[in-house]
Amino acid sequence: MDFEKQLQEKIAQIEALLQAYLPKEEGYQRTILEAMNYSVMAGGKRLRPMMMQEAYIMFGGTSQAIGPFMAALEMIHTYSLVHDDLPAMDNDLYRRGKKTTHHVYGEAMGILAGDALLNYAYETAAKSFLLEPENVNIGKALIKLSEKAGVYGMVGGQVVDVEAEKKQEVITKEKLDFIHHNKTAALIEAALAVGGILSGASDTEVQKLELVARKIGLAFQIQDDILDVIGKEEVLGKPIGSDARNEKVTYVTYEGIEKSKEDVARLTDEALELLHSLGKEDSFLSELFLHLVNREK
Ligand code: IPE
Ligand code: IPE
Ligand code: MG
Ligand code: MG
Ligand code: MG
Repeated sequence: MDFEKQLQEKIAQIEALLQAYLPKEEGYQRTILEAMNYSVMAGGKRLRPMMMQEAYIMFGGTSQAIGPFMAALEMIHTYSLVHDDLPAMDNDLYRRGKKTTHHVYGEAMGILAGDALLNYAYETAAKSFLLEPENVNIGKALIKLSEKAGVYGMVGGQVVDVEAEKKQEVITKEKLDFIHHNKTAALIEAALAVGGILSGASDTEVQKLELVARKIGLAFQIQDDILDVIGKEEVLGKPIGSDARNEKVTYVTYEGIEKSKEDVARLTDEALELLHSLGKEDSFLSELFLHLVNREK
């Protein structure tokens, strides 16, 4: 089967999984349940659950216990986008080709929908215990997921990203790398690491997976910064020029477009070499990483 067809099939499977775990829209709090479902089901590339599943399969995982973690990671990622788009943060009105959650439901519901998704993500991940009570790795996977989403991961990166806006302070290359590593690579690290942990990969293997994810995550955010300048809004599904409007320091403002593009390709090559060194069947993941180098959305 060709790559594009496989990709679409995997997206469809992940969306069915998400539907199964998302809440029913009923009760007095219905608005928030609608806002949660709206933001998660608005579309999106579903890369993080996809990568998690691939890592799980690579190390021989076969059970359904990965499902709750895949759904949870996409919920955490979506909450990070809902909050990232809020007026107090990047103040964006379009996401995944649709109006942002706060643009549809108002700012208070945007904040609450993010809170709700984050909480619901852990509630969902914990259901893994019910599916495979004897798997001692589930606890380890929960620690990894929460660490990568929190102040030592995504939230930490977003904090420094916001502080770096409008040149509130001098940004060194080291600090820019910290921002990219944490705000974006951390959730991709969670994807590969949790997949590996749940299937019983060794600590050394999980460390290697995290390093692969770190490189892919950096390349991914550099490409995101590039697309904010040269992307097409109708393909991207979110506004271009958001970084400039918010006076962000990005990889592109730091290194220029050409060097940025070179670095996306270089980091991806390095990640692929490391991935192959694990000695497992990784053909779909490799193709996915290569596909991301020239992504337009
Ligand atoms: C957007 O992530 C936020 C970044 C970390 C750059 P994605 O580009 O994966 O967004 P979706 O999930 O496809 O909408
Ligand atoms: C955000 O980076 C990363 C998150 C943790 C949400 P950006 O602010 O560049 O992401 P986009 O461009 O809005 O998707
Ligand atoms: Mg942002
Ligand atoms: Mg943003
Ligand atoms: Mg961006």
